[in-house]
Amino acid sequence: MGLGRVITSRDNPTLKLVRKLAEKKHRVETGLFVAEGEDLVEAAAAAGIEPVELLVAGENVVPELLASVSTLPHPARTIGVYRRSDLPAGRRDRCLALWRVADPGNVGTLFRTADAFGTALALSDGCADPTGPKAVRASAGALFRVPATHWDELPGRRIALAAHDGEPLGNVDLTPPVTLVLGSERHGLPDELVAGSEKATISLPGAAESLNVAAAGAIALYELSRRS
Ligand SMILES: C[S@@+](CC[C@H](N)C(=O)[O-])C[C@H]1O[C@@H](n2cnc3c(N)ncnc32)[C@H](O)[C@@H]1O
Repeated sequence: MGLGRVITSRDNPTLKLVRKLAEKKHRVETGLFVAEGEDLVEAAAAAGIEPVELLVAGENVVPELLASVSTLPHPARTIGVYRRSDLPAGRRDRCLALWRVADPGNVGTLFRTADAFGTALALSDGCADPTGPKAVRASAGALFRVPATHWDELPGRRIALAAHDGEPLGNVDLTPPVTLVLGSERHGLPDELVAGSEKATISLPGAAESLNVAAAGAIALYELSRRS
């Protein structure tokens, strides 16, 4: 730890902050969130995003105390606290838009998928908080790289991905600029959103009635990337 002080008390304000940030209310109030694990902290640094606080087991905090605030099954040895406002924002000519996707694992996975295919991501109101612990983990660092697009600024034509009754995705023009819109896990997309879009469906020759939203997003982005 060099010359700095080592945290030895569970009442330390930084440890208290990390504990609190597991709850959305505190993330919204403070504008901060937590990334756990060396890989995520390195992904942030590679994207030029610096932590407000950095805790490293055995360096500036007693390992057992850091483990006690970790949300991971195998506690992280490095935990960074970041500003939500430091995350990238902006537009790309290909965008994946999520309508009320409520599961944080799905939101994080779709960040990772958008990152893999080089698209931006837009979240409607009612989506899971992408800076919550499960979403951050599932994004595998993509949260620090993928620009978030404002819902009112979706680029190009909108393609509504619907589990049923759309044009087969393979027949749909996906020339950028274009936005692929995915619906919520329970209710899909509302009629008014589909009405202003072209409707596309990934044909499912098997027995399942629909795909998990993250699987649908991955297939659709593969199709988009294969064409461009
Ligand atoms: C679990 S599904 C929603 C199922 C919902 N009961 C419905 O009927 O729309 C969640 C989202 O994944 C996408 N999705 C699932 N299966 C799809 C498919 N075969 N083709 C295109 N999108 C699909 C859609 O965006 C859908 O809104």
